[in-house]
Amino acid sequence: MRHEDIERNLGLMVVLILLVTSFGGLAEIVPLFFLDETTEPIEGLEPLNAVQLEGRDIFIREGCVGCHSQMIRPLRAETERYGHYSVAGESVYDHPFLWGSKRTGPDLARVGGRYSDQWHRIHLIDPRAVVPESNMPGFPWLSENELDGSRTAAKMRALRSVGVPYGDDDIAGARDAVAGTKEIEALIAFLQQLGTHLKR
Ligand code: HEC
Repeated sequence: MRHEDIERNLGLMVVLILLVTSFGGLAEIVPLFFLDETTEPIEGLEPLNAVQLEGRDIFIREGCVGCHSQMIRPLRAETERYGHYSVAGESVYDHPFLWGSKRTGPDLARVGGRYSDQWHRIHLIDPRAVVPESNMPGFPWLSENELDGSRTAAKMRALRSVGVPYGDDDIAGARDAVAGTKEIEALIAFLQQLGTHLKR
C-alpha cells in the first residue's frame, strides 16, 4: 500500500493513527504499573491522621490547588528553591493527587516545617500581614468554622478501600480527634506534614 492511499482514506488514516498512538502510550504507561519505584510508598510514609485529612479536604474546598502545585520537578532551579524533587512513592496514599498544574504561588510540596504554625495562622487570615507584596486571598472564616468530625471516619474507610492503610483504631478514634478543631488548625496540620516524610 502506498503512503498516498493512506492519506486519501480518512477512515483508514484515523484507525492507523489510533493504533500507533495507543501502542506508544501503552509502551510508556504500562511498565509504570510494575515498577516498585512508582507504586510502593517511600520508607516511613504515613497516611494523613484524622485532623490532617480534614485539613486536606479544606485545602481542596478552598481551591488552594488552583494556585499552588505540590510537585517539585528535578530541575536545579526548582530543587534549590524548594528542596528535594518530588518522588512518586510520596504520593501513593493521595486520593486524589494534589500535584496541581498552576503556580500563582510557590510550590507547597515541601512547605512542612518551613514556617511556624503561628506564621500560617496570620498568613492564612491576612497574607499581606506577613508578605506585603502577596496577592494571595485571605481565608478569615477558617479561624471561625469548627469541625465536628462526623464524617471523618467514613472518609477514612473510603480511603482504606483504595489501599490507604488506616487501622480500625484510627477510624474508631477519628471523630474524637477532629471534633472541636478549628478549620484553620486542621489546614495547618495538613500543611506542616507536606514533604516531611522524605526529609526524615
Ligand atoms: C489566587 C492564588 C492563591 C490562592 C487561591 C492561594 N494562594 Fe497561597 N500563595 C499565593 C501566592 C501568590 C503566594 C506567595 C506570597 C505569599 O507568601 O503570600 C502564596 C503563598 C502561600 C504559602 C507560603 C509558601 C512559601 O513557601 O512561602 C502558603 C503556605 C500558602 N500560600 C498556602 C495556601 C493555602 C493553604 C491556600 C488555600 C486555603 C492558598 N495558599 C490559596 C497565591 C494563592
